[in-house]
Amino acid sequence: MIWIGTSWKMTKTLAEARAFVDGLVARRNAVDGVRAFVLPPHTAIAAVRERLPADVGVIVGAQNAHWAAGGAYTGEVSMRMVADAGATMVEIGHSERRDHFGETDDDVARKVSAAVAAGLTPLLCVGEPEEVRAVGGELEWVAGQVRLGLSRLAPRDRHRVVVAYEPVWAIGDAGREPRPGEIAPVMALLSAGCVPGERIEVAAVLYGGSVNLRNAESLLDVPGTDGLFVGRAAWRVEDFVELIRIGSGAGQSEGKGRRDVGAAW
Ligand code: PGA
Repeated sequence: MIWIGTSWKMTKTLAEARAFVDGLVARRNAVDGVRAFVLPPHTAIAAVRERLPADVGVIVGAQNAHWAAGGAYTGEVSMRMVADAGATMVEIGHSERRDHFGETDDDVARKVSAAVAAGLTPLLCVGEPEEVRAVGGELEWVAGQVRLGLSRLAPRDRHRVVVAYEPVWAIGDAGREPRPGEIAPVMALLSAGCVPGERIEVAAVLYGGSVNLRNAESLLDVPGTDGLFVGRAAWRVEDFVELIRIGSGAGQSEGKGRRDVGAAW
């Protein structure tokens, strides 16, 4: 099954979050046939979870959580707390967290293993900056981020992890849309497993960064792509549902979204 998800980043009040959910519920039939997920800001996780009927089948997650079980970490929330609020997934290592909040690969690794320990599905974000792409270093960069991000996780738990390839140069208002051919080698590498001689089998490999209604189909067509992780273009519920429709269509093609998370769902 194809994955279509969105992080709302630092947008949406509670009223806006509820309106989005109501719009989604009104179009609930469209959600069948894809694995859809929404990552609200922490303030709205519980409200979104409570308002979304379980049978609509949309996964709710967090955009970040701390690796420690609890304690003196002012301003942070733990994996257990986001799970308690209704999250079953947690985004980890987004480039904005790495850039603005100084998250290192080791912080990311701690969070991935804490997420799994708390029963959450980690959504591990990786991707190279423009200057690395400019010298052709993207495969090595991304493989390194995945290796380090999973380094504190027992190999038997890797199948619980969803990886999102999000090149930094493609993300956000300053980003540019990728051509399918630009991302294809990285998606092929990630879907095949990153370490030569060792297969890192994860639950799914998604693409994210300047996805929109026009390019979604061609990006989903890139071999090895199990879904899309979308920011701006999915913040209107009508557009999110349209992306879900596109994902559902792509999911009909053979070999798409073939991996599964098994027991986690
Ligand atoms: P964007 O963001 O779709 O707005 O480029 C993607 C992301 O940061 O995950």
